[in-house]
Amino acid sequence: MGSAEEEVREHLLVNVDGARGLDSPAKKAKLQVRDLTKQSEATGEMILSKVNLDVPEGVIVGIIGPSGSGKSTLLRALNRLWEPPSGSVLLDGQDICKLDVLTLRRRVGMLFQLPALFDGSVAENVRYGPQLKGKKLTEEEVKKLLSLADLDPAFASKASSQLSVGQAQRVALARTLANDPEVLLLDEPTSALDPISTQNIEEAIVRLKESRRMTTVMVSHSVKQIQRIADLVCLLVAGEMVEVLEPARLSEAQHPMARRYLQLS
Ligand SMILES: Nc1ncnc2c1ncn2[C@@H]1O[C@H](COP(=O)(O)OP(=O)(O)O)[C@@H](O)[C@H]1O
Ligand SMILES: [Mg+2]
Repeated sequence: MGSAEEEVREHLLVNVDGARGLDSPAKKAKLQVRDLTKQSEATGEMILSKVNLDVPEGVIVGIIGPSGSGKSTLLRALNRLWEPPSGSVLLDGQDICKLDVLTLRRRVGMLFQLPALFDGSVAENVRYGPQLKGKKLTEEEVKKLLSLADLDPAFASKASSQLSVGQAQRVALARTLANDPEVLLLDEPTSALDPISTQNIEEAIVRLKESRRMTTVMVSHSVKQIQRIADLVCLLVAGEMVEVLEPARLSEAQHPMARRYLQLS
């Protein structure tokens, strides 16, 4: 009992046309997205159209969809890298627009496609966030964070410039984890990585869910990846959330665009 899948069943609440609702009402949603809409100022085109989503605490939610469908825009709204309309994104029931933005970004950490490490050692990178708050992580704490990110603690003393992209991405994960986030936002975090590094990152994400009840929202270019690690899959097409499904049931997608994207018809 109490598995992530059951929680998804219990908590998922989606009010969009064409989305497959799981029945019971939401209990503990970590993040709630309500009618999130964004229109391009330049062209008037809808980038996001009334997106609704509940992200239950302690689950991995995957977001897939064609390029340009609004996945990054949606993710960036969740920690105000793009400022969403007030009331359209809630964290623990609170409007994120009313929270201090730096505090929000500690609570909701983000990782991008390519890691951007600072010059200096791995340890210096990992210490960066806490240091901004006047806290110096001990060597032990740094090593623990590296382990959490699936990296050998011996990396602490290496120069960031010596790392492969895959190793650097795990340092970037450790640096984000140093802020003790409640939610991780991952925007195609493995699309620049080789298969082994991809597996390292996937394992770290799954372990964080198991050991820390981390809530994760992950955009991926890979349907297979999402099927491997997500508890719930959201399909975004042309700014619309057209399907929300359990990964094992992707073949039941009904929206024509979703079916085409998944090569089901
Ligand atoms: N700041 C912006 N201003 C105008 N258009 C944007 C902006 N950011 C993204 N877009 C457009 O919004 C759409 C969705 O982009 P994006 O969220 O990056 O898609 P995805 O991550 O799914 O590839 C694209 O058509 C993109 O050109
Ligand atoms: Mg993107």
